[in-house]
Amino acid sequence: MNVGVETLYEDKDHLFLWLGKDESGQEEGVQANQYLIVDSGQGLLIDPGGFGVFSRVLVNLSHYIDPQSIRDIFLCHQDPDVGGSLSSWFEMTPAAVHVSELWVRFLLHYGVDDVTRFRGIPDSGGNLTFPSGRKVDFVPAHFMHSPGNFHLFDHASGILFTGDIGAAVYPQGQTPTFVENFDEHVLYMEGFHGRYIPTNQVVQAWLSRVRGLPVRQIAPQHGSIFRGENVGRFLDWIGTIRCGLETMKL
Ligand SMILES: [Fe+2]
Ligand SMILES: [Fe+2]
Repeated sequence: MNVGVETLYEDKDHLFLWLGKDESGQEEGVQANQYLIVDSGQGLLIDPGGFGVFSRVLVNLSHYIDPQSIRDIFLCHQDPDVGGSLSSWFEMTPAAVHVSELWVRFLLHYGVDDVTRFRGIPDSGGNLTFPSGRKVDFVPAHFMHSPGNFHLFDHASGILFTGDIGAAVYPQGQTPTFVENFDEHVLYMEGFHGRYIPTNQVVQAWLSRVRGLPVRQIAPQHGSIFRGENVGRFLDWIGTIRCGLETMKL
């Protein structure tokens, strides 16, 4: 079943969309969220996903934008569930791809041949300005979990896209779009965060950066979206986790 698009934010020039999901089991691997910003008719696609989700993402976003108007694609890091479909998006859109400069030469292995379309983001971060003058920031989030990793903060909506941070892995078909019961939700987040983040030290560095932003929603690449009081509850929770080297015997 193709679950439709949700509008996370809307004003007269600017839309932030969650691009739905397919609960039929046809999308291989872990459930993944994709997002689209449309600003004055111009699109930015966020973590478009692997091959298995391509047709659903294309169908869902086509109700809102002509793929030819997607000028930018953001990849938070190098994983296949983030950008495995890149060669298809290269054909469908004229978009430039923004990703950590660490990963550009690796992403050519996804079957894309035009290296001139990549815009490597330096470790210090970057930003992008839309036609309306609104901006998104590429926020450094290195080692959370990838060594070359960025989150995306959309100033107009106050939405922070956090890639794998905030990921929750529910049994198939049971992922709520928005976090409903935070205490229960933690049970589905603990496994991922405990294993994929190398040490709480990087969490603290990330938190000091993120707490300086006026975040109204946290949109992760897997699992459910945090809004309202759950934003603060999530930041408090992740500050306390023990992970990676702190829990694993090497
Ligand atoms: Fe990942
Ligand atoms: Fe992921």
